[in-house]
Amino acid sequence: MRASMTRGLLFALACTALLAVACGGSTSSPAIAAIAAPDDSALAAIVDENPDPHTLEVHLDARVATKVFGASPPTAVWSYNGSIPGPLLDLNVGDRLIVHFTNHLPESTTIHWHGVRLPAAMDGTPAMQSPIEPGASFDYDFVVKDPGLFWFHPHMRSDVQVNKGLYGALRVRGANEPASDDEKILVLDDIKLKADGSIPDYLDDTSRMMGRGGNTVLVNGTANATLRVRPNATVRLRIVNTANGRFFKLHLPGVALRVVGTDGGPIAHPYDTDALLIAPGERYDVFLRIPDAADTSLVMTTQAYDRGHETGLDPPLDVATVRVEGQRVATPATLPAQGAAIEALPTPNQTLPMRLDEKSVDSGGFAFTINDVSYPNIPTIDVPLGEMRAIALDNTSEMDHPFHLHGLFFQAIARGGVAVPESERVWKDTIIVPMKSTLTLAARFDALGMWMYHCHILEHAEGGMMGDIMVR
Ligand code: C2O
Ligand code: CU
Repeated sequence: MRASMTRGLLFALACTALLAVACGGSTSSPAIAAIAAPDDSALAAIVDENPDPHTLEVHLDARVATKVFGASPPTAVWSYNGSIPGPLLDLNVGDRLIVHFTNHLPESTTIHWHGVRLPAAMDGTPAMQSPIEPGASFDYDFVVKDPGLFWFHPHMRSDVQVNKGLYGALRVRGANEPASDDEKILVLDDIKLKADGSIPDYLDDTSRMMGRGGNTVLVNGTANATLRVRPNATVRLRIVNTANGRFFKLHLPGVALRVVGTDGGPIAHPYDTDALLIAPGERYDVFLRIPDAADTSLVMTTQAYDRGHETGLDPPLDVATVRVEGQRVATPATLPAQGAAIEALPTPNQTLPMRLDEKSVDSGGFAFTINDVSYPNIPTIDVPLGEMRAIALDNTSEMDHPFHLHGLFFQAIARGGVAVPESERVWKDTIIVPMKSTLTLAARFDALGMWMYHCHILEHAEGGMMGDIMVR
């Protein structure tokens, strides 16, 4: 306490001595923020080649790279622009994003912009674009309409390509973002590293069933990451789970996480939790108040969660060290208490039933099914433009499935046959359907084209739990 007050005093004296312009007049000036050392896990930056402040124009490639994870020997990975995660794409609502993409991988790929509402031709699924062959290029070009944290990843052999490191974050700021003293993006993943540093290439039965699991947790591509925060600061964390199979259940001892947003931006009623469950593909936007205790550390863990097949017995794992240091924040930003108004979707009068399950196949192994059929044999669903549909998910399998739908945000309207109160409606694009349960979604199909839906455990999607909806 004494040390940090001394530092504050020194800073104030320095301000008096320097030009006002250098220090700024406010306690939240970047000069103070810079006192805490940068995280070891900051996201890579990218060069904006367009002078228009409302256009972000970048060159992105997918390429083989070498990366060192913690104490492990070097690992051959697949990367966007050489980094894992790929560079952060930072935009404001209404901005245009132009990505000149080149594929330097030994196989074809695409980029899907998970959660972004865009023209179907830009959605990066094989249903809507030709695969980008090795050596070939493609320009993605669209306007971002919604605030929130989104992410990008391939939509071909996604179980393999995402696992090898192809994923990145896309942040879209809205006009009235709540204030915080610091904001961090946490791109969560786990990766299985062999003793020689390599990633196993073949798919064993457990990975096929549960999604490729890792023995190393990554925050922004870093093992044993340290997040540096100032005492008493209000910190905003925007979190995305990019793992193939791992569900994160984040816990920070003694600190409540105030959830203010999810996939589709702000929610109506912020709430506190000390165990934030995030399935593959989902995003959460949380605020928290750092303890007023300089030079201490907290360990963020992921707690056990039973998503089927004994996963509830997995021990907690460390995710990151939260290091409290630097200049104490004397007047921290208030934790947001107010949310955003969420339009309650009208109740659809037509229903798409989808029973999620798995079955063994004659050739050995098992397939993942929707209404007993596996992709690509699942019939395409037609929906006229602008119409509402209920999606009645019935998970009869022994495990949770995070259900993802492209092209729009939906709302959960019933769980286990019980209506979700209007006040609890939120905009999602990926949602957990717990094992042996039902969940009904409402969606307005207001964008033309072919949109995919699938489980976001990527081995389940590639194993057949995936289909197309054609809006015309
Ligand atoms: Cu994040 Cu169809 O995927
Ligand atoms: Cu699944």
